[in-house]
Amino acid sequence: MKGSFPIEKFASERTPFYYYDINLLRTTLAELGNALTSTYETANIKQVHFALKANFNPELLNIIAHYGLGADCATGGEIRFALNAGIPPSAIVFTGVGKREEDIRLAVSLGIGRFNVESVAELEVINEIATSMKKRASFSFRVNPDMGAYSYANVTTGMTENKFGIHHSMLADAVTAAKKMRSVRLCGLHFHIGTQILDTSDYIPLCNRINQCLELLKTMQVTIKDINVGGGLGIEYEHPNHRPVADFTSYFQVFKKHLRTDLPIHFELGRSIVAPCGALISKVLYVKEGLHHNFAIIDGSMTELIRPALYSAYHRIENITSDEPEQEYDVVGPISEHSDVFGKSVMLNRCHRGDYIAIRSAGAYGESMASHFNCRPLPKAFFSDDNLNS
Ligand code: LLP
Repeated sequence: MKGSFPIEKFASERTPFYYYDINLLRTTLAELGNALTSTYETANIKQVHFALKANFNPELLNIIAHYGLGADCATGGEIRFALNAGIPPSAIVFTGVGKREEDIRLAVSLGIGRFNVESVAELEVINEIATSMKKRASFSFRVNPDMGAYSYANVTTGMTENKFGIHHSMLADAVTAAKKMRSVRLCGLHFHIGTQILDTSDYIPLCNRINQCLELLKTMQVTIKDINVGGGLGIEYEHPNHRPVADFTSYFQVFKKHLRTDLPIHFELGRSIVAPCGALISKVLYVKEGLHHNFAIIDGSMTELIRPALYSAYHRIENITSDEPEQEYDVVGPISEHSDVFGKSVMLNRCHRGDYIAIRSAGAYGESMASHFNCRPLPKAFFSDDNLNS
């Protein structure tokens, strides 16, 4: 990012903060749209829902909404953020194993596009609430396809032992139970197998499972309106400049090729849309010489970006102030937690107190997972487009 981040402009701002490259976000959204329309020529055969859990910054959401994306929300709070960005209720899906009653009420009253329902117990509550409100709620069953062990074990979601969805072998019973409920309408099937998936052939077993579930519904003479295949497409954390836009074409094509259905397909992408455009900008507080390591102690910490601490996730780190020869550092935050480390043995241009450090590809699950631990303020966000920095 050296050269592209205008250090002087933000010299008086408190670090750490998030910095979003709005041109890259727009390019990503344009390429996403192109990949989608070139894969599925028929206009009504698709809808991408942006997963707000990846980032609910209102400025970014406004842009995402402007490109016509729907929203995948996990709480009533996220539903409100989606609405504020101008995403219509009909383009909102509501997913989550533990939906709260007040959030269900909100979603029913808005008439959101779809509840992605994860258990019969949850469906009963939605049915009760919708009955009391004299409404009918559209839902999809989230099916646990029992597959997938991707990038990091903490974030696989589609295996039997995971809490997510209804096991595929129990789908028939769930459908039978749903038929008896008058205020809910089964409209689709929903899946989500994991995240940071770079090898798109990992989606082939999912397609096979979906085909199997569709066969089952056919034998039960149940017709649905669409399939939601979830999200999970990964990005290149190691080389953010080589391939700044994710491979949306391969992603869409694998479903086009392996799903045996004419039903409209919905997608729920988060990381691949926003991760590359965000960086966490911090400053070096101290350079400390240890016995075996040099430490670059920066003012950013796991409270602004928890991914390295939580999942040992890799983010590229750059000293964007210094041009001096590279040295090896452990890049650490100031918090008294063993895991408050951004990278070990990282080669950085020689660091000095006050140098700016960019932690790249932090636009997804960065700002949205920030916390107040240690009474630290939540990070601010700035944008490459000056019209957005108010
Ligand atoms: N749909 C559902 C039902 C999800 O649970 C998720 C993410 C997505 C869509 C979007 O997945 P994506 O396209 O972003 O991979 N905090 C972790 C990631 C957790 C993902 C949770 N679910 C991280 O920082 O890597």
